[in-house]
Amino acid sequence: MDLSINGKLYQVEDSPNRTLLWVLRDELGLTGTKFGCGVGICGSCTIQIDGVATRSCLTMLSQVEGKQIRTLEGLATENPDGSLQLHPVQEAFIELQVHQCGYCMSGQIMQAAALLDENPAPSEEEIIAGMDRNLCRCGAYPRIRKAVARAAEIAAGG
Ligand code: FES
Ligand code: FES
Repeated sequence: MDLSINGKLYQVEDSPNRTLLWVLRDELGLTGTKFGCGVGICGSCTIQIDGVATRSCLTMLSQVEGKQIRTLEGLATENPDGSLQLHPVQEAFIELQVHQCGYCMSGQIMQAAALLDENPAPSEEEIIAGMDRNLCRCGAYPRIRKAVARAAEIAAGG
């Protein structure tokens, strides 16, 4: 079967028992997506499917055929000179030095990017609600929330 990931087509063996998370990591080498709990609780495996933040540990291959998958590796865009333009969420997370151990960050960033796509100017309450299901064992929640707000500013040209 074909998978469309970050704008490229990949051929992978269809298997009813394989989740997208392990195909991304083990077969395609896209290790930006992290394995945490494996049961849909932590959010560290969050990617986007057709723009919707989705837990790849719970996503079977058959559910994503014909859909657009985006992982952390595909969040930045390429400038005409070939350099990379970071996504506003990536810029904000770096600017505010959000990470501690960093393990949850890929999922946090993918969740935040989907949140801002849906709501470009979220209130603090909307940020808290939108990021609520992504856990951070280091407790970086205040910085994560500030960075999502900052990303919204950056995306708006601020
Ligand atoms: S690894 Fe998928 S939600 Fe925890
Ligand atoms: S920064 Fe360590 S788990 Fe979030």
